[in-house]
Amino acid sequence: MEVRSLQTDSFYGYDRTAGKFSDGDEIGELVLQVKPAMQALIERYDLADRSMISIGAGRAHEEFHFLEAGCKVDLLDLLDPVIDPLADSIRQRIDAGQSPTETSLNYIISDLYLFLEDAVTFSQAKYDVSYISSFAPDELDREAIQLSYRRRRTKAEAYASYQSWPEGMPPFQQAIMDVGQLVKDGGLFLLQSYRGGVNIQENPHYGQLVRDQLARNDLYLLEIHYFTQSPSILLIAAVKGKDQHQTWMERLASKPGLPEFHGRYPDPDMRRDISRWEPEAEKDATPAEETEVETAPPRKTRSPKNAQV
Ligand SMILES: C[S@@+](CC[C@H](N)C(=O)[O-])C[C@H]1O[C@@H](n2cnc3c(N)ncnc32)[C@H](O)[C@@H]1O
Repeated sequence: MEVRSLQTDSFYGYDRTAGKFSDGDEIGELVLQVKPAMQALIERYDLADRSMISIGAGRAHEEFHFLEAGCKVDLLDLLDPVIDPLADSIRQRIDAGQSPTETSLNYIISDLYLFLEDAVTFSQAKYDVSYISSFAPDELDREAIQLSYRRRRTKAEAYASYQSWPEGMPPFQQAIMDVGQLVKDGGLFLLQSYRGGVNIQENPHYGQLVRDQLARNDLYLLEIHYFTQSPSILLIAAVKGKDQHQTWMERLASKPGLPEFHGRYPDPDMRRDISRWEPEAEKDATPAEETEVETAPPRKTRSPKNAQV
């Protein structure tokens, strides 16, 4: 594990006086494109001035806005060119941004799985917020699980339902749940999924599985937003520890709806047409027992209860 402390503007190639990013640098375009979505996220979840860790951050174009909102941010990524073609260019940015005196931005170059083993020794202090936007190994797992599930179905089952996620299958890798252990009690766990996602309209049980797996890991679901026209693009928010759950639910209920998320998505109409998943029945958020993965016939229903936000 390598921890590099960075001067924010140098890392991003941002000239603050001119209010411009380096000419021809794609990062500037991305940062500006995601600005409304990130400001909406910061507003909805009161993220300003928080300490946070972003897992699989890559170029960290979204996280620029956390820094602008006064957050102290640790970015974590493997930066392996075999896995990510952008890895070398990000390492160059890190070299350009190197600053032993700046304290608001660190880049932790590490495999997440190894980091979690070292995390307690790396920092006794926990974060107010963990943020994950498309952690590739977890996203690819969901893709593979759905592919295999679809292949196992009979033709009749496939006609009867578009369900793609097995009953009882936990949605996340345990490492993703362990990221929640890096968050303080009362802090937030935010996860955006835009690759290999699970269509939450065709798989209404999926939201419940998300809620149950989070709860088994002391993370309590606040809400799941999804693109109405592409319901496998999800934004999941949970709070660490049960004590703060009700307070957060009340706080969110008093706020206007989230206007958009995943600001890099190219179609603005789609990224601004957002729905919120509603549980079929409000149940006590007590952690459910871990269930065996089963291959039960798909559910017949194709009309989940969705709330337009
Ligand atoms: C799809 S990109 C997402 C980047 C960024 N968060 C975004 O939304 O644009 C996935 C990132 O996960 C990183 N990654 C993949 N495996 C990892 C691992 N085992 N540990 C840490 N990072 C990893 C990749 O290097 C890549 O930057």
